[in-house]
Amino acid sequence: MFYVPEYYQEHKRELFPNFNEFFGNDNPVHLEYCSGNGEWIIKKAQEHPEVNWVAVEVWFERVRKIYSKMFNYGIDNLMIVSGEGLTFSREYLPNHSLNGVYVNFPDPWPKDRHAKHRIIQRPFVEELKRTLVPKGKVTLVTDNIPYKEQMEHEMDGWERLPSSHENYGSSFFERLWLSHGLEIHHLCYVNH
Ligand SMILES: C[S@@+](CC[C@H](N)C(=O)[O-])C[C@H]1O[C@@H](n2cnc3c(N)ncnc32)[C@H](O)[C@@H]1O
Repeated sequence: MFYVPEYYQEHKRELFPNFNEFFGNDNPVHLEYCSGNGEWIIKKAQEHPEVNWVAVEVWFERVRKIYSKMFNYGIDNLMIVSGEGLTFSREYLPNHSLNGVYVNFPDPWPKDRHAKHRIIQRPFVEELKRTLVPKGKVTLVTDNIPYKEQMEHEMDGWERLPSSHENYGSSFFERLWLSHGLEIHHLCYVNH
C-alpha cells in the first residue's frame, strides 16, 4: 500500500515505485479513483490477472477494507493508494503511465456550496489527459444528474464512446442507488 502524504507533509516522489518493478511485469495498468471498499476493483483484479490494477481511496477506513480483501483473496495484481486522487496523480503518476481509468460513483457533493469538492473538475481532467496513454479510456459512473452534466461539460473535447453496462461490474454504491430506483449513467471517453 502506498500512502500519499497530507498537504503539509513533504512528497517523496522517489519512494513511489515504478509500476513494472512493483508488479514484476509490464502488463497494462488500470486505475480506479474513489474505490470505496474496493468491491469493484477486487473483482476486476480477479477476473483480469493480465492487467495491473491500482485502487485510490482517500478514506483510510475504506483503504483498510480494500487491503483486507486483497490479503484474504491472495490478490497480487493490485496496488492500493491511500490518499487524495488529484494530489496522488499530480505528485506521483508519470506521463502516459495508465491504460485505463475508472471513477465509480464519486461523491456528488449535491449542495452548491460543496460542489467545489467534486473530483471531476478541469484540473483532474487535465491529469487524466497527461497520465493516460494515447487511446487510453476513461469511464465515469454516476447516478447524480447534475454531476453527470458537469462530467460531460468537463470532458468536452474528448471523444465519447458508446458505453455498455454489460460486464462492467458492480459496487456497493451501484447496488444502493439501484435499490432506490435510480438510473445509473456510464460515460466513456478515449484519450487522443
Ligand atoms: C460514493 S463512494 C463510492 C465508492 C465506490 N466507488 C462504490 O461505487 O461503491 C465515493 C468514495 O470516494 C472517496 N473519495 C472522495 N473523494 C476522493 C478523492 N478526492 N480521492 C480519492 N478518493 C475520494 C470517498 O472516500 C468514498 O469512499
